[in-house]
Amino acid sequence: MIGGGYVGLVSAACFAEFGMHVSVVETNAERLAALREGRIPIYEPGLDTLVVSNSQAGRLVFGDDIASAVVGAEAVFIAVGTPPRNGDGAADLQYVHAAARQIAQALTGYAVIVTKSTVPVGSSRRIAEIIREARPDLDFDVASNPEFLREGSAIDDFMRPDRVIIGLDEAGKNGTARAENVMRRVYRPLAQSAAELVFTGLETAELTKYASNSFLAMKISFINEMADLCEKLGANVEGLARGMGLDTRIGQRFLNPGPGYGGSCFPKDTLALSRIAQESQSGCRLVETTVQVNEARKAAMAGRIIAACGGAVNGRTVAVLGLTFKPETDDMRESASIPILHRLAEAGAVLRAYDPVGMEAAKPLLPAQTIYCADAMDAAQGADVLVVLTEWNIFRALSPESLAQQMRAKVVVDLRNIFDPDAMRAAGFVYQSVGRP
Ligand code: NAI
Repeated sequence: MIGGGYVGLVSAACFAEFGMHVSVVETNAERLAALREGRIPIYEPGLDTLVVSNSQAGRLVFGDDIASAVVGAEAVFIAVGTPPRNGDGAADLQYVHAAARQIAQALTGYAVIVTKSTVPVGSSRRIAEIIREARPDLDFDVASNPEFLREGSAIDDFMRPDRVIIGLDEAGKNGTARAENVMRRVYRPLAQSAAELVFTGLETAELTKYASNSFLAMKISFINEMADLCEKLGANVEGLARGMGLDTRIGQRFLNPGPGYGGSCFPKDTLALSRIAQESQSGCRLVETTVQVNEARKAAMAGRIIAACGGAVNGRTVAVLGLTFKPETDDMRESASIPILHRLAEAGAVLRAYDPVGMEAAKPLLPAQTIYCADAMDAAQGADVLVVLTEWNIFRALSPESLAQQMRAKVVVDLRNIFDPDAMRAAGFVYQSVGRP
């Protein structure tokens, strides 16, 4: 497993739990040192136990030497980052290509080189070219195996996925039988789950990942726009979402309005798909619009908070509950909290923030003057407005009366609809949520 980040580490730990021998290659010295000591550099529920037990059983090892890691490997997974390239939003493939070159130098026998990173269409063929150029003698196949796990429930998602997509080179001169056999064996432990193994060509597998993430991003943007409309028309987005979602063609999930999607995948993958479509002279206007709608939404949310304070936050104290892009993760990448807090800071607000696990990761990204608090009640101390940005479960049980006692003014802007409007009003709050009367 090349790369020991969210995807690499979770995949490696789960494969090891299935009884396979997995070597993780990680070049970040700090991350590697932590992993070797059994410390998990990211927050993901259940991952620490899985890593420690499989390391102790000798099935999961960590190192920085790719040559020793790939000895005898039948499958080598690439799970390095593919961040957006500065300037045009296309996926930056420098880490993937570097990994391919390193793998080429290190392999001593047949292996399937599997791309787990999210990569543009054509990347697996490019990886094959890179390896062939470096090692014309080498016997290998490439496969595209995009990962669909969600941070926060990554282990369960990996072990009980809805589907596993495996793209193979259908035009390969040796056919795909050998590579397919390796991939079937790798995923055989999932046979008891409902997971369907979908074999496709390389291009289809690569595009399926971007299409899936873009569709989900579009679904979120859709319900966000419906929430705005509900507010204008006196409708309730919760009833609307339930009414829509019970149609199995639509489905209940991903119909919760909020401050705009963030995270390490949706923003970058929607941008990358837009870019792929442009380069192919093919329209992808729905996805391009989704990107624009989401950017505009994040900006609008700061405006909503300022409006709730009567049009100005200069010198006012804003309590912020939740900073990560979603609960059960410490990932701050592209979190809506980043533009919102910067906008509030520029408008002169005093920011008192609390997040159960994301505060360390948040510090370099948020305004320098942000005050990090011990808990939610501490954040609410003396606040003129309390804003909910991430729906961590521990915020749901906060007592409105106790919050009211802590605050200077009783205003709540709940951008995740976690509180009961009637209970908040009964406690004397001016309470605003998203898409609810
Ligand atoms: P990450 O940034 O957490 O991890 C990547 C790791 O690879 C880093 O620890 C880095 O030091 C290491 N690395 C880079 N080059 C290396 C090399 N040549 N040799 C060894 N290690 C190397 O990234 P994350 O979030 O795990 O994402 C990886 C890929 O998976 C991306 O393409 C992403 O789009 C995709 N993905 C991410 C999901 C997520 O929820 N984070 C879900 C599904 C796909």
